[in-house]
Amino acid sequence: MASMLEVNDIHTYYGQIHALKGVSLTVEEGEIVTLIGSNGAGKSTTLKTISGLLSPRSGEVKLRDKRINGQPAHKVAAMGVAQSPEGRRVFPRMTVLENLKMGAFVHRGTDPADLERVYMLFPRLKERAGQKAGTLSGGEQQMLAIGRALMARPRVLLLDEPSMGLAPILVEQIFHTVQDINRQGTTVLLVEQNALMALAISHRGYVLQTGTIVLADKADALLRNEEVRKAYLGES
Ligand SMILES: Nc1ncnc2c1ncn2[C@@H]1O[C@H](COP(=O)(O)OP(=O)(O)O)[C@@H](O)[C@H]1O
Ligand SMILES: [Mg+2]
Repeated sequence: MASMLEVNDIHTYYGQIHALKGVSLTVEEGEIVTLIGSNGAGKSTTLKTISGLLSPRSGEVKLRDKRINGQPAHKVAAMGVAQSPEGRRVFPRMTVLENLKMGAFVHRGTDPADLERVYMLFPRLKERAGQKAGTLSGGEQQMLAIGRALMARPRVLLLDEPSMGLAPILVEQIFHTVQDINRQGTTVLLVEQNALMALAISHRGYVLQTGTIVLADKADALLRNEEVRKAYLGES
Protein backbone atom coordinates (compact mmCIF):
# COMPACT_ATOMS: atom_id res chain seq x y z
CA MET A 1 0.00 0.00 0.00
CA ALA A 2 1.14 3.54 -0.68
CA SER A 3 2.69 5.52 2.15
CA MET A 4 0.40 7.93 3.98
CA LEU A 5 2.77 10.77 3.13
CA GLU A 6 5.59 10.80 0.66
CA VAL A 7 7.95 13.69 0.02
CA ASN A 8 10.12 13.22 -3.06
CA ASP A 9 13.20 15.34 -3.66
CA ILE A 10 11.65 18.72 -2.90
CA HIS A 11 13.50 21.95 -3.54
CA THR A 12 11.97 25.00 -1.90
CA TYR A 13 13.21 28.58 -2.23
CA TYR A 14 12.60 31.90 -0.51
CA GLY A 15 13.46 34.17 -3.44
CA GLN A 16 17.10 33.34 -4.11
CA ILE A 17 17.56 31.40 -0.89
CA HIS A 18 17.64 27.68 -1.60
CA ALA A 19 16.17 26.44 1.69
CA LEU A 20 15.36 22.79 0.85
CA LYS A 21 17.86 21.00 -1.36
CA GLY A 22 16.19 17.77 -2.27
CA VAL A 23 14.36 16.61 0.85
CA SER A 24 12.79 13.15 0.67
CA LEU A 25 10.93 11.37 3.43
CA THR A 26 8.00 9.05 4.00
CA VAL A 27 5.50 8.65 6.79
CA GLU A 28 3.53 5.42 7.00
CA GLU A 29 -0.02 5.23 8.30
CA GLY A 30 -0.09 5.13 12.11
CA GLU A 31 3.46 6.35 12.61
CA ILE A 32 4.93 9.22 14.57
CA VAL A 33 7.94 10.43 12.61
CA THR A 34 10.24 13.14 13.92
CA LEU A 35 12.28 15.58 11.91
CA ILE A 36 15.17 16.88 13.97
CA GLY A 37 17.69 19.55 13.08
CA SER A 38 19.30 22.73 14.29
CA ASN A 39 17.83 26.16 14.00
CA GLY A 40 17.60 27.13 10.33
CA ALA A 41 18.01 23.57 9.01
CA GLY A 42 14.72 23.79 7.11
CA LYS A 43 12.29 21.95 9.41
CA SER A 44 9.52 24.54 9.24
CA THR A 45 10.07 24.99 5.52
CA THR A 46 9.57 21.24 5.06
CA LEU A 47 6.28 21.26 6.98
CA LYS A 48 5.06 24.36 5.14
CA THR A 49 5.89 22.77 1.80
CA ILE A 50 3.88 19.69 2.78
CA SER A 51 0.88 21.71 3.98
CA GLY A 52 0.81 23.89 0.88
CA LEU A 53 1.80 27.17 2.54
CA LEU A 54 4.90 27.05 0.33
CA SER A 55 5.22 25.59 -3.13
CA PRO A 56 8.33 23.59 -4.01
CA ARG A 57 10.18 24.60 -7.18
CA SER A 58 10.62 20.93 -7.96
CA GLY A 59 9.85 17.58 -6.43
CA GLU A 60 6.51 16.30 -5.21
CA VAL A 61 4.44 15.72 -2.09
CA LYS A 62 1.99 12.82 -2.15
CA LEU A 63 -0.76 11.86 0.24
CA ARG A 64 -1.70 8.20 -0.30
CA ASP A 65 -0.16 8.39 -3.76
CA LYS A 66 -2.13 11.51 -4.70
CA ARG A 67 -0.05 14.54 -5.54
CA ILE A 68 -0.88 17.45 -3.23
CA ASN A 69 1.84 19.99 -3.99
CA GLY A 70 0.59 22.82 -6.17
CA GLN A 71 -2.71 22.82 -4.28
CA PRO A 72 -3.56 25.77 -2.03
CA ALA A 73 -3.24 25.17 1.72
CA HIS A 74 -7.00 25.02 2.36
CA LYS A 75 -7.37 22.29 -0.28
CA VAL A 76 -4.50 20.33 1.26
CA ALA A 77 -6.18 20.70 4.64
CA ALA A 78 -9.46 19.41 3.23
CA MET A 79 -7.58 16.43 1.79
CA GLY A 80 -6.37 15.50 5.25
CA VAL A 81 -3.17 17.32 6.18
CA ALA A 82 -3.38 19.79 9.09
CA GLN A 83 -0.56 21.83 10.54
CA SER A 84 -0.08 23.27 14.00
CA PRO A 85 2.32 26.11 13.24
CA GLU A 86 5.50 27.09 15.03
CA GLY A 87 4.88 29.80 17.60
CA ARG A 88 1.28 28.65 18.06
CA ARG A 89 -0.41 31.46 16.07
CA VAL A 90 -3.86 31.24 17.57
CA PHE A 91 -6.31 34.04 16.79
CA PRO A 92 -5.88 36.13 19.95
CA ARG A 93 -9.12 38.12 19.83
CA MET A 94 -11.29 35.11 19.15
CA THR A 95 -12.46 32.80 21.90
CA VAL A 96 -11.11 29.31 22.36
CA LEU A 97 -14.28 27.85 20.84
CA GLU A 98 -14.15 30.23 17.87
CA ASN A 99 -10.53 29.23 17.25
CA LEU A 100 -11.50 25.57 17.30
CA LYS A 101 -14.37 26.20 14.89
CA MET A 102 -11.92 27.88 12.51
CA GLY A 103 -10.08 24.58 12.32
CA ALA A 104 -13.24 22.86 11.11
CA PHE A 105 -13.94 25.35 8.32
CA VAL A 106 -12.46 22.98 5.72
CA HIS A 107 -15.49 20.77 6.34
CA ARG A 108 -17.83 23.80 6.28
CA GLY A 109 -18.88 23.26 9.86
CA THR A 110 -18.08 21.87 13.25
CA ASP A 111 -18.83 18.25 14.04
CA PRO A 112 -19.73 18.06 17.74
CA ALA A 113 -17.87 14.73 17.97
CA ASP A 114 -14.63 16.42 16.84
CA LEU A 115 -15.10 19.13 19.43
CA GLU A 116 -15.73 16.52 22.11
CA ARG A 117 -12.56 14.66 21.13
CA VAL A 118 -10.49 17.83 21.43
CA TYR A 119 -12.06 18.59 24.82
CA MET A 120 -11.26 15.05 25.98
CA LEU A 121 -7.63 15.49 24.97
CA PHE A 122 -7.43 18.98 26.44
CA PRO A 123 -10.00 19.43 29.24
CA ARG A 124 -8.49 22.85 29.92
CA LEU A 125 -9.79 24.08 26.57
CA LYS A 126 -13.32 23.11 27.55
CA GLU A 127 -13.01 25.09 30.78
CA ARG A 128 -11.76 28.08 28.81
CA ALA A 129 -14.08 27.75 25.80
CA GLY A 130 -15.45 31.28 26.13
CA GLN A 131 -12.14 32.96 26.94
CA LYS A 132 -10.20 35.05 24.40
CA ALA A 133 -7.28 33.00 23.09
CA GLY A 134 -4.86 35.90 23.59
CA THR A 135 -5.35 35.67 27.34
CA LEU A 136 -4.35 31.99 27.55
CA SER A 137 -0.99 30.86 28.90
CA GLY A 138 1.67 29.62 26.46
CA GLY A 139 0.87 26.00 27.21
CA GLU A 140 -2.84 26.54 26.75
CA GLN A 141 -2.24 28.32 23.43
CA GLN A 142 -0.19 25.34 22.30
CA MET A 143 -3.07 23.00 23.24
CA LEU A 144 -5.39 25.27 21.28
CA ALA A 145 -3.13 25.26 18.22
CA ILE A 146 -3.06 21.46 18.24
CA GLY A 147 -6.78 21.23 18.98
CA ARG A 148 -7.57 23.59 16.13
CA ALA A 149 -5.55 21.43 13.74
CA LEU A 150 -7.41 18.32 14.95
CA MET A 151 -10.76 19.94 14.21
CA ALA A 152 -9.93 19.51 10.52
CA ARG A 153 -9.98 15.74 11.24
CA PRO A 154 -6.57 15.22 9.63
CA ARG A 155 -5.11 11.93 8.48
CA VAL A 156 -1.70 13.47 8.95
CA LEU A 157 -1.02 16.00 11.70
CA LEU A 158 2.05 18.24 11.23
CA LEU A 159 3.36 19.66 14.49
CA ASP A 160 6.00 22.39 14.37
CA GLU A 161 7.88 22.60 17.69
CA PRO A 162 4.93 22.00 20.01
CA SER A 163 7.18 22.10 23.09
CA MET A 164 8.82 25.41 22.31
CA GLY A 165 8.93 27.80 25.25
CA LEU A 166 6.94 25.56 27.60
CA ALA A 167 7.77 24.65 31.18
CA PRO A 168 9.14 21.07 31.55
CA ILE A 169 5.96 19.67 33.06
CA LEU A 170 3.89 21.02 30.18
CA VAL A 171 6.41 19.69 27.68
CA GLU A 172 5.88 16.22 29.05
CA GLN A 173 2.12 16.66 28.93
CA ILE A 174 2.18 17.81 25.31
CA PHE A 175 4.29 14.80 24.26
CA HIS A 176 1.91 12.46 26.08
CA THR A 177 -1.02 14.00 24.28
CA VAL A 178 0.72 13.67 20.93
CA GLN A 179 1.04 9.96 21.70
CA ASP A 180 -2.66 9.75 22.60
CA ILE A 181 -3.61 11.49 19.35
CA ASN A 182 -1.47 9.00 17.45
CA ARG A 183 -2.97 6.00 19.28
CA GLN A 184 -6.42 7.27 18.33
CA GLY A 185 -5.41 6.82 14.71
CA THR A 186 -3.79 10.04 13.49
CA THR A 187 -0.46 9.83 11.71
CA VAL A 188 2.00 12.44 13.01
CA LEU A 189 4.98 14.24 11.52
CA LEU A 190 6.69 16.08 14.35
CA VAL A 191 9.35 18.79 14.18
CA GLU A 192 11.29 19.37 17.36
CA GLN A 193 14.41 20.91 18.81
CA ASN A 194 13.76 18.77 21.87
CA ALA A 195 15.09 15.74 20.01
CA LEU A 196 15.35 13.47 23.02
CA MET A 197 11.68 13.62 23.97
CA ALA A 198 10.53 13.66 20.37
CA LEU A 199 12.48 10.52 19.47
CA ALA A 200 11.30 8.85 22.67
CA ILE A 201 7.69 8.89 21.41
CA SER A 202 8.50 8.35 17.71
CA HIS A 203 8.74 5.28 15.52
CA ARG A 204 11.29 6.76 13.13
CA GLY A 205 13.23 9.94 12.62
CA TYR A 206 15.08 11.99 10.04
CA VAL A 207 17.94 14.39 10.63
CA LEU A 208 17.89 17.53 8.52
CA GLN A 209 21.01 19.64 8.01
CA THR A 210 21.05 22.82 5.91
CA GLY A 211 18.17 21.73 3.74
CA THR A 212 19.23 18.10 3.25
CA ILE A 213 18.33 14.85 5.01
CA VAL A 214 21.59 13.41 6.32
CA LEU A 215 20.29 10.52 8.37
CA ALA A 216 17.17 8.37 8.57
CA ASP A 217 16.57 5.54 11.00
CA LYS A 218 14.36 3.99 13.63
CA ALA A 219 13.95 6.32 16.59
CA ASP A 220 15.75 4.06 19.05
CA ALA A 221 18.71 3.74 16.68
CA LEU A 222 18.92 7.53 16.37
CA LEU A 223 18.80 7.80 20.15
CA ARG A 224 21.85 5.51 20.33
CA ASN A 225 23.67 7.16 17.42
CA GLU A 226 26.90 8.80 18.60
CA GLU A 227 26.74 11.79 16.23
CA VAL A 228 23.06 12.41 16.92
CA ARG A 229 23.72 12.33 20.64
CA LYS A 230 26.51 14.88 20.31
CA ALA A 231 24.75 17.24 17.93
CA TYR A 232 21.15 17.09 19.09
CA LEU A 233 20.87 15.45 22.47
CA GLY A 234 23.13 17.87 24.30
CA GLU A 235 25.97 15.45 25.00
CA SER A 236 29.58 16.52 24.69
N1 LIG B 1 10.43 33.88 5.12
C1 LIG B 1 11.72 33.60 4.86
N2 LIG B 1 12.43 34.36 4.00
C2 LIG B 1 13.72 34.08 3.72
N3 LIG B 1 14.41 33.05 4.25
C3 LIG B 1 13.74 32.27 5.11
C4 LIG B 1 12.36 32.51 5.48
N4 LIG B 1 12.00 31.55 6.35
C5 LIG B 1 13.07 30.76 6.54
N5 LIG B 1 14.11 31.18 5.79
C6 LIG B 1 15.44 30.57 5.73
O1 LIG B 1 15.30 29.21 5.30
C7 LIG B 1 16.15 28.36 6.06
C8 LIG B 1 15.32 27.31 6.78
O2 LIG B 1 14.46 27.95 7.73
P1 LIG B 1 13.41 27.15 8.60
O3 LIG B 1 12.71 26.16 7.76
O4 LIG B 1 12.58 28.15 9.32
O5 LIG B 1 14.36 26.37 9.62
P2 LIG B 1 14.02 25.60 10.98
O6 LIG B 1 12.54 25.51 11.09
O7 LIG B 1 14.69 24.28 10.86
O8 LIG B 1 14.62 26.42 12.09
C9 LIG B 1 16.93 29.25 7.00
O9 LIG B 1 18.16 29.55 6.40
C10 LIG B 1 16.08 30.48 7.10
O10 LIG B 1 16.85 31.62 7.36
MG1 LIG C 1 11.24 26.19 12.53
